[in-house]
Amino acid sequence: MPTETDTITIAAIGDLHVTESSVAPYREMFAEIAKEAEILAEDIRTCDIPVLGVLGNHDYECGQPEKVCEILHGAGMTILDEQAVEIKGVGFAGVKGFMGGYGRGELAPFGEPIAKAFVDEAMNEARKLENGLRSLRTERSVAVLHYSPIPDTLEGEPGEIFQYLGSARLADAIDRFDHVKAVVHGHAHHGTYEGRTVRGTPVYNVAQFVVKPKFGRAYALLEV
Ligand SMILES: [Fe+2]
Repeated sequence: MPTETDTITIAAIGDLHVTESSVAPYREMFAEIAKEAEILAEDIRTCDIPVLGVLGNHDYECGQPEKVCEILHGAGMTILDEQAVEIKGVGFAGVKGFMGGYGRGELAPFGEPIAKAFVDEAMNEARKLENGLRSLRTERSVAVLHYSPIPDTLEGEPGEIFQYLGSARLADAIDRFDHVKAVVHGHAHHGTYEGRTVRGTPVYNVAQFVVKPKFGRAYALLEV
């Protein structure tokens, strides 16, 4: 018999909204996340050169970015984020990045907590990128992003949405280091292939929709 001093362990979960007519309501959601990442993972497995990258905003849509990472990692892909890697003398550091804008249009951490939280997310991503780049001991490195660090490579997108396509805070982190020789990003499907940070580091928008019309293939080749 339990006494008054015994403790119990409770498993709690809220808001699953399952109705009488629901049949395995979450199986499909989890399977869907796994399926999309697995399709990509299957293709990555056939590549015999090192594959690395960062997640994009779409990988967060199902609320399971860790699961996506796990599947891609299982296929041999390095997801950069917190850790940087060195391949044949070239360092790679990367983060997804976040939005927030550029120059005068940059959102400041002011006022409501939610506005500050939004800016915090951009600052955190920039901080992770800076830490990754700082950890590298290579003379040449590449910064890998999803969101854009500069507005130049967004040219072609509507001006009203530039602030949702990237953050200058990412470029601030990049420009602290002489060893960054190239920056790649995506996200801006209608943007421009090439631009530069304030300090002159080349930035390439390698979204396949930008690269394909330019080179006739979905990927860009960069010499670093
Ligand atoms: Fe995106």
